[in-house]
Amino acid sequence: MREKILKVILDNEEGFVSGEELSKKLGISRTAIWKHIKVLREQGYNIESVNKKGYRLADEPNDLLNPQNIYHNLKTSFIGKHILHFDTIDSTNNYAKRLGNELVDGSVIISEEQTKGKGRLGRVWQSKAGDGIWMSIVLKPDLVPNKAPFITLIGGASIVKALNNLGVNAQIKWPNDIVINNKKLCGILTELSAEIERVNYIVLGIGMNVKDTDFDGELQDKATSLYMENYKVSRVDIVKEILYQFEKLYLDYVEKNNKKEVLDICRKYSAIIDKEIYVIKNDKRELVNCIGINEDGNLIIENEEGKLQEIMSGEVSIRGVKGYV
Ligand code: BTN
Repeated sequence: MREKILKVILDNEEGFVSGEELSKKLGISRTAIWKHIKVLREQGYNIESVNKKGYRLADEPNDLLNPQNIYHNLKTSFIGKHILHFDTIDSTNNYAKRLGNELVDGSVIISEEQTKGKGRLGRVWQSKAGDGIWMSIVLKPDLVPNKAPFITLIGGASIVKALNNLGVNAQIKWPNDIVINNKKLCGILTELSAEIERVNYIVLGIGMNVKDTDFDGELQDKATSLYMENYKVSRVDIVKEILYQFEKLYLDYVEKNNKKEVLDICRKYSAIIDKEIYVIKNDKRELVNCIGINEDGNLIIENEEGKLQEIMSGEVSIRGVKGYV
């Protein structure tokens, strides 16, 4: 019932819904409505009530990542249609992998906090309660395993597109990171369960710093958050837009083998193309010119001898000349 009440209120973002209207629509008493509203407020919904007018959601961005908020006007056909939301969890990627076989294609796991958030290369991913978007998308495409790495690029492209659509001037640091002002805002950790010839499932983990105000240790110079860059965007809007952008690009790839739009986005919003960068492999770093991204989604670089090379995602780490980018 609470979800139904919320839906009516959310559908009326512009104006008030009276207790009487809610009561008629849902067939319960006004007192019962009031009790449910009280609980919704305790859950964090900023529901305003004005005498003789009724209820409405207050102006400030509605920022709880509950499934109900995300389902509301979500424009996808299957991505994010089944959401599991936790207050705390070890890691959304680990959870998705534990249940991978049972979860339906397009399921999304979100947690307000992760106690064992994982980054790439065995790093820890700081995931404090309510500070960010810590989520994993479970995908079950009919693909051979060597076509799976491109999904990371689809993730990056959909995130950078979503953020720019919401007015955030973000760029992509090929292939896994989203940056603002040369600092890391968001990382992607893609994990795969497969047999030799067939993908069982892919877990696309996304970690985005939204409200953090500081970072531990060496992250201080490298990481940033949307709030630190003065972007006050609702987490719910970001998640919805990412899921929407992701689904379009993902279906283009798995159904039509079309990579064009993803590559166009990665090139347009690139933080490294036409710059000098360090390519780091096995603790060895080489200063190179970043030339572009080819049709396979690999990075094209020019080394100090002027020789062109192709780098596949996952092979290397990239750093900027002056710091992180
Ligand atoms: C990286 O840049 O190193 C990747 C970071 C990925 C973090 C996300 S948060 C949600 C999901 N669960 C995890 O444990 N990690 C990913």
